[in-house]
Amino acid sequence: MTVKTLDELINEGVDGRYVLVRSDLNVPLEDGRVTDNGRIRASIPTIQRLVGHGAKVMVMAHLGRPKGKPDEKYSLRPAADELNELAPFSVEFASDTVGEDAKRLAGSLAAGSVLVLENVRFDPRETSKDDAERQAFARELAALTGGNGAYVDDAFGAVHRRHASVYDIAEILPAYQGDLVKEEVQVLTRLTQDPAKPYVVVLGGSKVSDKLAVIENLMTRADSLLIGGGMVFTFLAAQGHKVGASLLEQDQIETVKGYLDRAAEVGCEFVLPTDIVVADRFAADAEHEVVPADAMESGRFGDKGIGLDIGPDSGAAFAERIRGGETVFWNGPMGVFEFPAFAEGTRAVAQALKDSGGLTVVGGGDSAAAVRRLGFADRDFGHISTGGGASLEYLEGKDLPGLTVLDR
Ligand code: 3PG
Repeated sequence: MTVKTLDELINEGVDGRYVLVRSDLNVPLEDGRVTDNGRIRASIPTIQRLVGHGAKVMVMAHLGRPKGKPDEKYSLRPAADELNELAPFSVEFASDTVGEDAKRLAGSLAAGSVLVLENVRFDPRETSKDDAERQAFARELAALTGGNGAYVDDAFGAVHRRHASVYDIAEILPAYQGDLVKEEVQVLTRLTQDPAKPYVVVLGGSKVSDKLAVIENLMTRADSLLIGGGMVFTFLAAQGHKVGASLLEQDQIETVKGYLDRAAEVGCEFVLPTDIVVADRFAADAEHEVVPADAMESGRFGDKGIGLDIGPDSGAAFAERIRGGETVFWNGPMGVFEFPAFAEGTRAVAQALKDSGGLTVVGGGDSAAAVRRLGFADRDFGHISTGGGASLEYLEGKDLPGLTVLDR
C-alpha cells in the first residue's frame, strides 16, 4: 500500500495537463469578507508548485454547509478573491461547479493558470449518502480535465468526509497527496506514535460530546489532559459541583465520571480549573467575577451565573503544565475568547504554547482562529493544523476516507 505524492506527480510531468486540486478554503466570512485566511494561505504552496510546473489547475472546495443548492451566502468567490490577493499566481473564478461557466473557463484555461470552481456543496451529490450519486458528480468533475487529468488531495480539513470531491474522484482520476495533507499527517503521527513525554493535551470548546472519542484515545497516551471551555462544566458536575446556568451536558455526566475514575488506572491526570470567570449573562459587556470552581454558585450571581472562561489561577496552572510538556496538543478555546473580558484563559494557554520548548500543535479551525485573533502568529507554534474535525478524528485513530482512498 502506498500513497503517491505531489513530488511523484510533478516528476511524471504536469506541463499543460489539467490537475484538479481539492483544497480546504472553508474560511470564516463577515459581510462577505474573509476574517481568517489561514486555510487559504496554507493552500497556496501545493497550487503554486503545480502552476510552476505548467499545470492547468482547477481548485475544488467547499464553504460552510449549504443545503445542496446555490446560496450566495456560501459562495466561494470571496475566498477565491483572497487567494488571488495572497498568491503569486492569478486566479479565475467559475460561478458554477460543473456547469456552463466551469466548462467554458476550464476549456480556455492556459498552462500555469488557476481556476477556482464554485462551492462543490451547491450540488447535492457532493455529500450524498448514495454512492452512485456521488460517483456521478465526481465523473462530471473529472470530465473537466479532458482525458489526461490528475487529482491532488490537499484539503486536510475535509479528509474525514466521504464526499465526491474528496473520495470518489480519487477512484476516477490518478490520485496524489498534496503537500499540506502530507505535512499534517506527518505532524499528527508524532502525536499518536511514541510522542515525547511529558505529553500534555489541552481540550476546550463548548461540548464534551464532540470530544468523547478523542478523550478515550488520548487518555491512554497523554500524561495529562487539561480541560477548559464550556465542556469543563460537565466535568465539574461529574465531580458533584453545582455549575449555575453554565453550559452542561447532563447526559454526558456518567461518561465523564467514567473517565475521571479510569484516569489513575491508565496513568493520565485530568487537570480541571480551580477558578472560573462567571458572568451574569452571555454578552461582551456582562458583569463578571472570579469564583472557585467547586463553589460556583457562591458568587453574587448565584445559580444564575454562567461560566465564560477559566479563571486566572487556572490559567497560570495550565500554563505551567504546558511549559513543562515535551509534546503539547491543544484543541478548543478555554472560554468565550470572542469577548475580550473572557479571552484571558485562552490567551494564557496560547502564550504557554509559544513559550514551550517542546513540539506544540494547535488543532482545529476555532483554536487557530482564536490564536490569530489574540495576536499570535503562526510561527509561535510548532504546527497549526488546518483541520478541525479531521485532526480530531485522526487523533481518535479513525480511518479517514480521504486518506485511505489515496493508499493503494
Ligand atoms: C472544517 O471546517 O473543519 C472543514 O472545512 C470541514 O467542514 P465540514 O465540517 O463542514 O465538513
